[in-house]
Amino acid sequence: MHVFIPGGAGYVGSLLVPALLNAGHAVTVYDLFLYGEEVFDSIKSHPKLTLVKGDIRDLSKMEDALHGCDSVIHLACISNDPSFELNPNLGKSINLDPFEPFVQLAKKKGIQRFIYASSSSVYGVKDVPNVTEDMELHPLTDYSKFKAECEKILLKYKADDFTCCILRPATVCGYAPRQRLDVVVNILTNLAYNTGKIKVMGGDQLRPNIHIQDMVRAYLHVLEAPSENIQGEIFNVGYHNHSVQELGTIVQTTVGKKKVVDLEQIPTNDNRSYHVSSEKISTKLGFIPKYTIQDAVDGLIEAFEQGKLPNSLEDKRYFNIKTMKAVNLT
Ligand SMILES: NC(=O)c1ccc[n+]([C@@H]2O[C@H](COP(=O)([O-])OP(=O)(O)OC[C@H]3O[C@@H](n4cnc5c(N)ncnc54)[C@H](O)[C@@H]3O)[C@@H](O)[C@H]2O)c1
Repeated sequence: MHVFIPGGAGYVGSLLVPALLNAGHAVTVYDLFLYGEEVFDSIKSHPKLTLVKGDIRDLSKMEDALHGCDSVIHLACISNDPSFELNPNLGKSINLDPFEPFVQLAKKKGIQRFIYASSSSVYGVKDVPNVTEDMELHPLTDYSKFKAECEKILLKYKADDFTCCILRPATVCGYAPRQRLDVVVNILTNLAYNTGKIKVMGGDQLRPNIHIQDMVRAYLHVLEAPSENIQGEIFNVGYHNHSVQELGTIVQTTVGKKKVVDLEQIPTNDNRSYHVSSEKISTKLGFIPKYTIQDAVDGLIEAFEQGKLPNSLEDKRYFNIKTMKAVNLT
């Protein structure tokens, strides 16, 4: 397949793109490269890779770049809630407004399969032991509301020649060439390894996470699945529903093999707990995650040791909010 990936130069894309190339697919990355242009330096001369610097709000540039592609994995986004709240109008102009015109364009250009990266945050807080895909959505932030709206928009366009599939990922963790250190396991590991101290707020609340390598495997899995298995379907993609306290302890003991780490537990009134079920993607598609939180922590430790994440407490490129402030995108 020739896969068009808006947002392909981000955290998930930086590992997904080489994995797609390794699997024999051609890839066009369409991205503003907000977090650096060097992310694909080691593979940029690959004959099946095309890199286009562009904005998803620029429909005519998208139209040119889509030429020859047959599938889409849509990752482009102002990604986490706080960076989104810096400028709500900007967030809407990227995360919602261009979505329907893009889906229409993709269809017109002969795209046959469209996979959308939603988020498990669309559920809001649910006081049930297992959150499944059929449950009502109560998105709490603009970021999550727009994800939920885009899901509905995409499903309107499903047709025999246009397969639509939505993934709702848990929080992703682990090492990637474009590193995010503003997601929970990665935050804790960075602090544990580089300061010897971590704090966790509260304890018993559950937080679903998924190793970035499994996230990449999940996108490949749906990309290559028979159309009838994924058409119009929504899949949660998580694995471990650890409590916040457990996450802290895993990081403390894993980094603790190298250096002493203090773990402080701070009381909180925020007792929101999420337990996302990823049963459907396993029973319907046979997708089984392989990597643990401990693997993610080990991968990050190795990256720190090899000097792959220099200045990790300060450099803005690891933190979406700091980067968004600095690039001053309008
Ligand atoms: N990382 C997670 O924990 C997580 C969890 C659930 C869902 N998701 C979703 O998965 C997708 C990928 O996440 P990620 O962590 O790789 O995010 P990321 O922030 O690392 O990557 C997003 C990419 O989109 C690009 N981008 C932003 N605005 C753009 C625009 N106007 N035009 C073109 N490109 C633009 C950025 O340059 C960046 O490369 C996102 O849609 C995100 O909401 C991520």
